[in-house]
Amino acid sequence: MRQAGRSLPEYRALRERHGFFEIAGTPELCAEVTLQPVRRHGVDAAVLFADIMSPVLGMGVEVELVEGVGPVVGERIDSAAAVEQLRVSEPEEWAAPILEAVRLVRGELEPDRALVGFCGGPFTVAGYLVEGRPSRDFVRTKTLMYREPETWHALMERLTEQFARYVAATAATGADAIQLFDSWVGALSVSDYREFVAPYSARVLGAAGVPTIHFGTGTTTQLLAEMAAAGGSAVGVDWRISLDDAWTVVGEERAIQGNLEPAVLLGPWERAEWAALDVLRRAAGRPGHVFNLGHGVLPQTDPDVLTRLAELVRSYGHAA
Ligand code: CP3
Repeated sequence: MRQAGRSLPEYRALRERHGFFEIAGTPELCAEVTLQPVRRHGVDAAVLFADIMSPVLGMGVEVELVEGVGPVVGERIDSAAAVEQLRVSEPEEWAAPILEAVRLVRGELEPDRALVGFCGGPFTVAGYLVEGRPSRDFVRTKTLMYREPETWHALMERLTEQFARYVAATAATGADAIQLFDSWVGALSVSDYREFVAPYSARVLGAAGVPTIHFGTGTTTQLLAEMAAAGGSAVGVDWRISLDDAWTVVGEERAIQGNLEPAVLLGPWERAEWAALDVLRRAAGRPGHVFNLGHGVLPQTDPDVLTRLAELVRSYGHAA
């Protein structure tokens, strides 16, 4: 349950006193908010508290996470000169507090619960850097890709190197799995994905050294197949596609994470329960199903509904 913290009063209380990157940069606070959803909902995994933009702070980029908007970048990275300015750096230099938080969390978490580290997909993060803020159509990003392919590849090269080092360090420090969030990859055609994105995502996934989850949203079956080919022990799918159809596309030997519509949790419990059971029925007891929402938890979600959902999924597992 990504961004589950947003719906929790205990997270909000902490956020009133501390900035986002202040929490992520203070090992004790970072460990605390990482563990909050596990304590409350009893889920099987903790998601390390950071943001997909955290590694670019280490590259010298100014980023602000604006509530209700998303990441906003100080100056757009949309030219060869701007890309030149991006520094690739050792995680020990810029991510020491996050790595310390990994140690703290791993020390507190029961051995049978996983700690999931993550990074953004190079495409999704490049999109924020080139656009300067969240975008629907990624027009500036695509313009750069088509008009200045060398600049695009240089940007992807640097992001990939930074993310590969980061996920390797996170895993080596104690994360049990790494998730790559290529959240906005659905904006791309299949052939552009193959040419401009897939080799970079593959490199980051290949650097983790632990099981990986490769996630995107708005992914057509063709794009999902390309993402599966690029890598990931598991493929994460959003709610737009039925889980069983997605499984046919990525192949039975692959695990799947997904894919309850997050907004259904805002409706009556009976509807949420039906939708969750539908996901579980479509997974049909396959061993490689990681039950999850198809995207992040919406901030309006009642935390008690999340707890109830976690209980439902657990009891279904036991009954099967
Ligand atoms: O579960 C967790 O809370 C773990 C940490 C986590 C955050 N962001 C913390 C966060 C994770 C895994 C992310 C990933 C992330 N960040 C993604 C990929 C998510 C996915 O499922 O596709 C994306 C696209 C981002 C960029 C980003 N950061 C957005 C769009 C926002 C929302 C802005 C808003 O408030 O509407 C953020 C902010 C953010 N990142 C919050 C949290 C808990 C909430 C705001 C805050 O506390 O300041």
